Amino acid sequence: MAKKVLVVSTSPRKGGNSDLLADAFVKGAQSAGNSAEKVSLIGAKLEFCRGCLACQHTGKCVIHDDASRIMEKIAGADVVAFATPVYFYEMCGQMKTLLDRSNPIFGSDYKFRDVYLLASSADADSSAMDGAVSGLNGWIACFDKSSLKGVVRGTGATAAGEISKKFIDEAFSLGKKA
Ligand SMILES: Cc1cc2nc3c(=O)[nH]c(=O)nc-3n(C[C@H](O)[C@H](O)[C@H](O)COP(=O)(O)O)c2cc1C
Repeated sequence: MAKKVLVVSTSPRKGGNSDLLADAFVKGAQSAGNSAEKVSLIGAKLEFCRGCLACQHTGKCVIHDDASRIMEKIAGADVVAFATPVYFYEMCGQMKTLLDRSNPIFGSDYKFRDVYLLASSADADSSAMDGAVSGLNGWIACFDKSSLKGVVRGTGATAAGEISKKFIDEAFSLGKKA
């Protein structure tokens, strides 16, 4: 049966390196006959979590912005891939802000089981993504029916679009297997 694959692209740079990895993952997933969609945070209204924990009682966030729309998509997907630039050896703040806003679906009957990370960095060493992997694993530890199934470490890319083709191909292949 066709899977529902969601790719959340969190970089503020449209057509940037991690966004290109996101597109390749979507194409790979579609090539395998799955339904795949990319959601970008560019232009999205996304406030910080206020920590009120009202969502623990209501399952809903008190903030009315784009997070609830994106969370609905995340909770309903079989596969979720997050694409992020490395900022100060971590995931970007936009991605962390989104993950913090997932508290309303914590404890819900979310569907996703397989999680992927598609990261890009200026640093040429693949350890540049370790912080982002560790951060995402913290989120996965709380959504414990899911697990991290793959990571693309798109190193050595500073200017938008300069990511090497080998990483684009890797993202396509991971998407195809997802
Ligand atoms: C605020 C900021 C912090 C960054 N910090 C790092 C870093 O710690 N290590 C690194 O290798 N690259 C760092 N970079 C470079 C980006 O990770 C790199 O350009 C990446 O390919 C951008 O991805 P994007 O095009 O998807 O936005 C930083 C860039 C910005 C804007």
